[in-house]
Amino acid sequence: MEEITLLNPLDMHLHLREGEMLKNIIDFTTSQFSGAVVMPNLSTPITTTQLAMEYKEEIQSSAKDKDFMPLIAIYITDALNEEELKTAKNNGIKILKLYPKGATTNSDNGLAEILTPQTLKIFEIAQDLGFMLSIHGETGGFSMEREYEFGPIFAAIAKDFPKLKIIIEHMSDHRSIALLEDYENIYATLTLHHITMTLDDVLGAGLKPHHFCKPILKTPKDRDMLLALALNAHPKVSFGSDSAPHLEKNKLKDNGAAGIFSAPNMLAMLCELFEKHDKLHNLQAFISDNAKTNYNISKLPKKAVKLHKKHTAIPSQIRLIQNNIIPLNGGRLLQWSQA
Ligand code: NCD
Ligand code: ZN
Repeated sequence: MEEITLLNPLDMHLHLREGEMLKNIIDFTTSQFSGAVVMPNLSTPITTTQLAMEYKEEIQSSAKDKDFMPLIAIYITDALNEEELKTAKNNGIKILKLYPKGATTNSDNGLAEILTPQTLKIFEIAQDLGFMLSIHGETGGFSMEREYEFGPIFAAIAKDFPKLKIIIEHMSDHRSIALLEDYENIYATLTLHHITMTLDDVLGAGLKPHHFCKPILKTPKDRDMLLALALNAHPKVSFGSDSAPHLEKNKLKDNGAAGIFSAPNMLAMLCELFEKHDKLHNLQAFISDNAKTNYNISKLPKKAVKLHKKHTAIPSQIRLIQNNIIPLNGGRLLQWSQA
């Protein structure tokens, strides 16, 4: 196939940041996607409806494409309560985001313990009000085992709250796939980096801080089994880039920041990948249809993105006033480009 049109592409896990960073990166996403689930882990986390509404306005006023639909998730802290959840619901918020304390970038306000009476109450209200629960599922254990060790927590929540839709964000470990089969209410997002790279791309041939992210990239078996889920557009799986920009200087320092900036040329990269495996016909489901069904998304600004087989280069850096951001595969020549 030489050409493909993708209808309403959706990025179900995206970091847009704020201020100058937001202004410099937002159009990479809005030029390709109809909407996105925008993560709330700003330096002041989005913990209330009020903050979410202000953030939504900042996003929409920073974007060229005003039709872009940001679905802001609310960051769960110990202070979240029923009243706030009702307000969120009344204002169209659909998703709550759970970060274990300290698991990733800006997660200091996350939950120190997950299955406490207080959080179980929140899950119950969330279930009653019809929220979806998006989870960064990692324990504080050994890096390569963190997601697997979190498995019993996913299972416990899924079992106790069978009507609460739970999303395993950026699934990275093949042992998590069983949870999709075992629990009707467990779903997942997949990033491009976890389905195409392994730990060797971080440290197998010199240290590559721009490939350092949470959860850490894993083994060839993990990559291949997760890639198969994406290529076959498993109905409980949707695309979530987890594009997470950091300034180059913050990636390179000690305690370097976790996060891969993958937004530029994302759809072209996905076309190249799906075509290579003769699965281009499944890309529409992976990039939009599954998400529309599973997240009950009905009203979407209509967007048809045409891509064709024509070489294009991924920018090698994005210049901000003080420093750069280095995109995933920066400088690489792609077979596909957006028409
Ligand atoms: C993300 C970020 O930088 O905000 N980092 C990452 O490594 N993925 C946070 C997250 O999604 O874990
Ligand atoms: Zn993320």
